[in-house]
This record gives sequence, structure tokens and C-alpha cells, in this order.
Amino acid sequence: MTRRMIAGLWASVLVLTAAASGAPDILIADFEGKDYGDWKMEGEAFGPGPARGTLPNQMPVSGFEGKGLVNSFCNGDRTTGTLASPPLKIERKFINFLIGGGMHPGETCINLLVDGKVVRTATGPNDRPGGTERLDWYSWDVSEFAGRSAILQIVDKATGGWGHINIDHIVQSDVRRGAVETLKDVAIERDYIVFQLPARQGPRTQVSLIVDGKTVRHTVASNADAACWMTWDVSKLKGRSGRLRIAEMPAPDGTLTIQSSCTQSNEAKGVLMITDKLYQETYRPQFHFTPAKNWTNDPNGLIFYKGEYHLFFQHNPTGINWGNMTWGHAVSPDMVHWTQLDHAIHPDTLGTIFSGSGVVDWANTAGFQAGDEKVLVAIYTSAGKPFTQSIAYSNDRGRTWTKYEKNPVLGHVAGDNRDPKVLWHEPTKKWVMALYLDKNDYALFGSPNLKDWTRLCDVPMPGSGECPDFFELPVDGDAGNTRWVFWGANGAYLLGTFDGKTFTKESGPHPSNWGGNCYAAQTWSDVPKSDGRRLQIAWMNGGKYPGMPFNQQMSFPCELTLRTTPDGIRLYRRPVREIETIHARKHAWSNQALKPGENPLATLAGELFEIRAEIEPGRAAEVGFTLRGEKVHYDVGKKTVACLSKTAPLPPEKGRIRLQVLLDRTSIEVFGNDGLISMPTCFLPDLANRSLGLYAVGGEAKIVSLEVYELKSAWPM
Ligand code: FRU
Repeated sequence: MTRRMIAGLWASVLVLTAAASGAPDILIADFEGKDYGDWKMEGEAFGPGPARGTLPNQMPVSGFEGKGLVNSFCNGDRTTGTLASPPLKIERKFINFLIGGGMHPGETCINLLVDGKVVRTATGPNDRPGGTERLDWYSWDVSEFAGRSAILQIVDKATGGWGHINIDHIVQSDVRRGAVETLKDVAIERDYIVFQLPARQGPRTQVSLIVDGKTVRHTVASNADAACWMTWDVSKLKGRSGRLRIAEMPAPDGTLTIQSSCTQSNEAKGVLMITDKLYQETYRPQFHFTPAKNWTNDPNGLIFYKGEYHLFFQHNPTGINWGNMTWGHAVSPDMVHWTQLDHAIHPDTLGTIFSGSGVVDWANTAGFQAGDEKVLVAIYTSAGKPFTQSIAYSNDRGRTWTKYEKNPVLGHVAGDNRDPKVLWHEPTKKWVMALYLDKNDYALFGSPNLKDWTRLCDVPMPGSGECPDFFELPVDGDAGNTRWVFWGANGAYLLGTFDGKTFTKESGPHPSNWGGNCYAAQTWSDVPKSDGRRLQIAWMNGGKYPGMPFNQQMSFPCELTLRTTPDGIRLYRRPVREIETIHARKHAWSNQALKPGENPLATLAGELFEIRAEIEPGRAAEVGFTLRGEKVHYDVGKKTVACLSKTAPLPPEKGRIRLQVLLDRTSIEVFGNDGLISMPTCFLPDLANRSLGLYAVGGEAKIVSLEVYELKSAWPM
């Protein structure tokens, strides 16, 4: 190919001939046995034999056939190994197999070796946190090796994130089952790259542009009913050269729509993806916090001081994936509009800076206060060898931080003990620290000055680990009747009492979160008594942000309350009222029938909405919303609400349910019956679908009240 790329010219490297020759498939391996049979295994990663699906601590593995598969997540990502087949003869045009796991070429892969040389290789689809453990079909055209002897080799040399490979059902066949993949060098000469995404394609169909080894544009096909034109704005990349990777499922007649439609052009067509303008990128959440660039996970050091909500966050200052843990920092007057500041606390000889909390030391118990300004103190984990707990302080409203010279303040206790959450306990006039120890064990420590800590009691919490929170709340708003909430990273909580020394459990663990993406939530310290709210933000762990400069997002902040329910006291979690700061146009309905086939929201379209609804399902079997094609679905018979493959129980109250839904570019957060259930879940929107719908199925329902707010972006435009 010449350097010049001519619009419309994409000579396809691979031509597809899908016609079956009639010869039956030859099964190479289905991994249904107890061991790997005559395959040779080295290392630990592959375990003693094929896995039966998902392994401990792994996201759910799906898409494999039968019961067994090769899954090199044995003992996590850090294990390595290889698995090699006995010699086999190539007797069909294709080798088809199911593949999932990490996208680390040469390190998490399956190879075909002929004469000892790797002649074909394939990896899983994941190179960043989030992603999916689903296996998909992949095909190699091996016709050129017909009659030759070959070996298959499954390799796991990677030890970091997505350091594993999953393989199943390897078959020789004359019919291709997987996507056709082509790589093409391009010299970027026009403003746009334009291509047509075919209809009804799964996520195996993907287009990426790689420049200087970095994926700068990435589009994943959805299951949209109609084909759609996509445009990438590449104007800022003009003059550079890159590599275009197209993986496409061919149509039944062999047509490759993306290959044949992809051009460089000075005119945009269809959906325009601009990824260069900060905070306006295609997949940038518009009212959920993300760092300007690079990785974030847990919220840390949540303090309210002098009109500012501080949000520190686990951050990799130099990479899109987890690593180099540092406390990033942002401030906001309302928990909605954030300004990112300089990174606050950096790694040192004691370790990288893992999660922790923050307090205002009003009485200067630690003696760090230098002037009139009250001192802010951060308590965090020094993640060295071993993990210990340290503190740092700021005398300038969090703008600069000094580490205490006698760190750590709490030595190693157990395991990888971490994530200190500190609060002031007024009745006993001391600081209390909730700390994660190991396995399902937590403990409370006490201190007069944030520097000297003694163990108060142990708090086991079956099923939970990491990132504790510990706070007191009135029940039904009654200050004379309180409970203490002990919280684990997965959003499960215990209810009990605390006398300053011992936490006595009354009930739990109870779940608080039914969504797919909610972890390591923490509440703000020092919210003024006049406000009185217990305010929380979580990491929406997982999610996909293809081509984005940042990775991962926070949840929308929520207010927590305790209320009496028929099942006992429960924690309610609902969005803070400050959502109203971004309300734009309001659309409202009330006391209106909703008949099957009707959609009162048909004229609305967009990316950002808040919905508040009270619905009487009446004779309907199902009622719900569709948001850009994704359903928030109430099953009247089962009394459950479902969204993005997660389901929560939601009993009607007096024949009615209340739903509050926040739709942002990459998340849907559903709250039921004023926060009795909350479901924060990430999604990757179908860019071509901006529709909204409200529906009833199987009978008439009643809209008691419905408010739909268009939302403004919280970022400066
Ligand atoms: C939870 C966690 C914490 C740890 C931090 C490191 O997501 O594993 O236990 O402090 O992340 O980034």
C-alpha cells in the first residue's frame, strides 16, 4: 500500500469463503475431562485440570461450552504456565475455538506452531480493568498448512491485570465461526475516519486505531437493529501514522461491512466521536466524577471543610491501569461539580499510598496545626512490606500535605491490613479507626491523638473484606434511637451498638447494593451538624471506557439513612438532592393510564436524564423504562426490578413502586422505593441510540407521577 490512502479503498487482506465443504468437524479438545489428558502442562496457572467455569475471585466466566474449559486464573492472575497439545494434523480449512481473558500478545495467548514456529496467535479481548470474562469464537484460516503436523500451545506468562487466558472447544472445521481480523497501516491525512457498523453485531466486532502503541480510538459494535455510520475525529492526528485493527463478524454471505466502508474523509457521517476535548469525550461521564486522565479506584479521605467537599481517590498518576497508588484530589462545593487539584499524597519508602480516610482535627489533638486554619489529617495505608498505617496533614485546606515524620502510626497487625477509616467519638473523646485486617476480619482501634493506637475490638464480617466504614445513624430520624453501621467494601453492612470500646452486632450482614458496579464506598467526615446528612460516594468498579484518557468512575453521591421496614431496620441509599443543580428541562405526567404499546417518552432523546416515577402496575405483568435501548424492568409477579442483568427485590407499597433513575453516559443508577434498594451499574451505550421509553406489558398500568429531567453536564464546557 502506498503512503497515500485513497478514500474508499480498503483492499481486504482476508477474503472469506464460508461455504461448508461437507466434511465433518474434527474436535481437537473440549476440556470436559478431569485432567488435560495427553496435553503437556507446565507451571501452576492451569491448575490440575480444566476448570469448571469461574474460579475463586474471578468475574463470572461465560460463553464456554459444556462444563469444563481452560482457565489460567488458577490462584489468580499472578500464576503462569503453558499447556501444549500433542501433534495434530491440519485437515480442515479453519481452526475454530472459544477464547477469553487477557489481551497481552505473546503472554496470554493461544499459538499454533508448525515446524516449531508460531504461525498463528490469538489473545483474549481485555487489556484494561473492567472488561468481560466471556469467551467468544475465534477462527484461524489454516488452509495453507493443509496436511502438515502442528501443535497448539496455550500460554500464560502475564502476572498483572488480566494475566490469564481462557480457551474452550477447539475444532477443525471447513466453516469459520469467529471474527475476521485485519491489521492495516494507515497514514492519517484527513479529518475523519468513517465506517459503517453493521446491524446486530456483538462485541467481537471492534475497530481500533493504534498510534505509537496506544489505542487512540476504539469502537465496539452493539446489537443495534440498524447499521450505523461512525466517524472518528482524527484531525489532531493528521500527519501521524497508525495501525487500524478491524475485527468483524462476516455477514452470512461473507460481506465485511466495516472493511468495505472504511474511508478517510473530510466529511463526518453518522455518530461523531470526538475524543480530544477534555471532559467532552464520547464516553466521559458528565455528572459522575472521573479524573482528567489515568486510573482511579477507591474514594479516599472524604472530608468536608469550609464549604468544600474533598474527594481524594486511589490514582495511578502515570497509567491507565491500576498501579503506583497515589492519592489524587478534587474539590467541590456540592459533590456534583468537581475541580481536580494537584495529586496530594505520593508513594515513599514505606510504600505506595493505598486507601484511607480524612478528618478535621478540630481540637488539634495531634499538634499539627500551624496557624489559624484547622488542620486536616489523612490516615492511609503505606502499602510496603509489610502494610502499615500512616498519617499526613495539611494546614492549607488540603492544598499541600506533609507526612508525619514518625510514620507509620500503626504497625503491621495481620495479613495485608489496610484501608483505615477514622472518626471522632465524642462520648469517649477519642479517635476510632476501623481497619481491614485479613480474610473477613476487621478491627477497631482507639487513639487520643491520631498517632498512638490501641486495639479496641474485633469485627468479623462474613463475606466482606477491604475498605471498612463505621458511623452512627438515627433510626427513622429519631436522634434518641441510633444504630452503628459497620460497612465492608462490597456494600454489605452490619447494624449494632458501640460503647466506645466494643461494637456489638444486632443484625447483618445485609446487602445495600444490587447493582453491578459499586465498591469501596466511603462516607464524608465532618459534614456540619446543621446539615446532618451521612453522605457517601463509591467506586463504580469495572465498566468500559474504550479510547478514553481516564479509566473508572465514581458513583453519584448518596445520602444514607436508617429506616424501619417489615424486615427490621435497613439502610436506605438515595442520590443527594444536589442532583438538582444540573436539572435542565423538566417533563411531567401524573394520574395517567399507561396502556400496552404506549410510550409517553417517545419524543425525548438524549444522553443525560434523571427520572422520578411513582407507578401503580395495576393489571400489567411488566412495567419499565428503556434508556438508550437498556431496560429498567419491573416484574410485577416476581416483585423485582432488573437493569443491565442485575435484579433486586422491590415489594410494592400500597400497590405502587417508586423508581429514581440516573442516566449518565456510561452508567445507569436505579433506586427503588426511596433508596430501599440501589443498583449502580456501568454500561457502554449504543452511540446511535439516544431514545427513552416507558412501557407496560400485559395490561394497563397507572402513572401516578412521573418527572423526567434533562440534565446538564457538570463539567465546564
Ligand atoms: C479496594 C483496594 C483497597 C486498597 C486499594 C488499593 O479496591 O484493594 O483494599 O487499599 O484498593 O488501590
